[in-house]
Amino acid sequence: MDLTVSVLLGTFILSVLALFVFIASMAKGLFGSGGAAAVQIFDADEIGTVEDPAATQSQRGSLQKAMDPSTLRTQRDAREVAARLRADQSSSLVVGVCLTMAVVWLVLASVAGLIASIKLHAPDWWVGQAWITFGRIRPIHLNLVAYGWCSMAGIGVALWLIPRLLKTELVGARYALMGGALWAGGVAAGTVALAMGYSDGLEWLEYPWQIDILLVVGGALVGFPMWLTLLRRRVAHLYVSVWYIAAGLLWFPVLFLVANWPGLHFGVQQATMNWWYGHNVLGLWFTPLALAASYYFIPKVLGKPIHSYNLSLLGFWSLAFFYSQVGGHHLIGGPVPSWLITISIVQSMMMVVPVVAVAINQHLTVVGNFRALLYSPTLRFIVLGAMFYTAASVQGSLQALRSVNTVTHFTHYTVAHAHLGLYGFFSMVMFGSIYFIMPRVMKWEWPYPWMISAHFWLVLGGFAVYFIGLSFGGWYQGLAMLDKDVPFMDSVALTIPYLQARSVGGALMTLGHLVFALHFFMMGWKFGPRRLGASLLAPPFLSGASANTASATTARLATATSTSTSTATAAGATR
Ligand code: HEM
Ligand code: HEM
Repeated sequence: MDLTVSVLLGTFILSVLALFVFIASMAKGLFGSGGAAAVQIFDADEIGTVEDPAATQSQRGSLQKAMDPSTLRTQRDAREVAARLRADQSSSLVVGVCLTMAVVWLVLASVAGLIASIKLHAPDWWVGQAWITFGRIRPIHLNLVAYGWCSMAGIGVALWLIPRLLKTELVGARYALMGGALWAGGVAAGTVALAMGYSDGLEWLEYPWQIDILLVVGGALVGFPMWLTLLRRRVAHLYVSVWYIAAGLLWFPVLFLVANWPGLHFGVQQATMNWWYGHNVLGLWFTPLALAASYYFIPKVLGKPIHSYNLSLLGFWSLAFFYSQVGGHHLIGGPVPSWLITISIVQSMMMVVPVVAVAINQHLTVVGNFRALLYSPTLRFIVLGAMFYTAASVQGSLQALRSVNTVTHFTHYTVAHAHLGLYGFFSMVMFGSIYFIMPRVMKWEWPYPWMISAHFWLVLGGFAVYFIGLSFGGWYQGLAMLDKDVPFMDSVALTIPYLQARSVGGALMTLGHLVFALHFFMMGWKFGPRRLGASLLAPPFLSGASANTASATTARLATATSTSTSTATAAGATR
């Protein structure tokens, strides 16, 4: 056994040992009381009161009834509310800007994806210009979703969550704003470069390294304020979402720098590094950001702490222990040492531990309250996204097995899985989070609730067609490619109906994104009735005495926050 194998094996054994030590120390109570940590996202009287700024007034009433109407509390600790208001205000400009750019990238990325999709079953369509050929429009789509939509949405949500969770104003918000602008400039420049044919030629790393510098500097300017805020925190315990965000902020720059450093890797080593990055960017950047959001918003909307706080920590640490070596499963069958592949397959199976921990925890938080999904737009997107996380990960672990990968590798099945993860899981969680956050940022409610429903059903229906069609098509394609009696071209031809189905599904998704973007900008321009204030703090379901108490609370809040803001703002941002 040579040194490298021993080191990797040693790392694996260390990870397993660390997991057992972690479980043992939790059992001994060394991590303190999970119960107290779980409730710290609520104010003293807040547990039992639902909250969804994306819901209409009547939906909010039904949501509270679906939980427990008797637990509704209208009293608030004015000091806590004022602190939360200050935290929200400190981040609102930069969050608004990041999320706006994310939405723009989402629309452009979807159009690029749709064009790429059509070209796969109609290869003679729109072939006159080089920039629109499949070889360019595909990386444009991938990089726009990865660095445009997903990263900017994730950063926006993280920037909003961090001050809230640390009960501290965002430090250096203006640097974060500059960082966001630089990052967006990098995405724009990268897109133009790819369209012009300049590419580093490695999947997920296509932007020329000179442009990556913009992302590195922009990312640092966004990341440092969050770290500084962490240092100035006013809470004793870090809620699990903070663990995920902080870890993502630490992991991503390491991954991005090592992978993009010019002239560092060559040949097989470069391919190995490419997929070390390719999978880690999913598991150590996008996944932590989305899990952080779901660990905050699911309990917050339901007014109910997460089922088991200790389980959430177990999920976090086991992700940290096992994720970093799974990338090799992208190279199964490739010209890389088989021990490297084997270790990545073992680690892929070990990923069942964090995934099951998250799945059990989030499911047990929602179980018994599934009716709440009918009334809360935020919850509908996020709970669905959390379910897709389990599905994508279990599918991924199975797909990493050599026997399954022999069929699925080089097929559209992988692309279906990719969208289950980055779309079904990540993007759905981001949609839900944005629905919750934007009314707080804009101090305006979503103008037309029907547009939220249209967005939901269009993307869900479109994605179902996309995923089911491509999974079957990809599997049959794999079987045909393995059959020595089937000519290669037949394995291509049989996929055409499935690729057409993907275009139909993708068109519905794109339409859903257009509805979402239109609604987003209509909110920005303050379309629709002015429903701020009363609807957020004292909705009509607080009738009689409770409504009076709510008005009293509003008055107290106004006093508590009068130094920095108006009454309406206070009412709008209390929870
Ligand atoms: C335990 C969790 C997971 C495992 C073990 C896993 C495993 C895999 C495997 C084996 C492949 C196919 C490799 C190939 O044959 O080329 C793959 C591809 C992919 N997975 Fe996962 N997956 C997991 C979770 C996720 C999640 C949560 C996401 C999204 C956030 C995701 C996104 C992707 C993407 C985007 C690809 C395609 C990459 C490319 O070819 O460009 N996966 N995954
Ligand atoms: C936010 C939305 C989306 C996300 C996060 C996303 C993500 C991705 C990812 C990660 C890949 C690389 C897959 C791989 O290499 O295995 C990809 C490829 C692709 N996506 Fe999307 N996508 C989105 C929306 C769409 C839409 C609306 C369409 C329209 C049909 C689409 C069509 C495609 C196509 C055609 C490819 C190339 C597949 C291939 O090379 O075989 N995507 N997308």
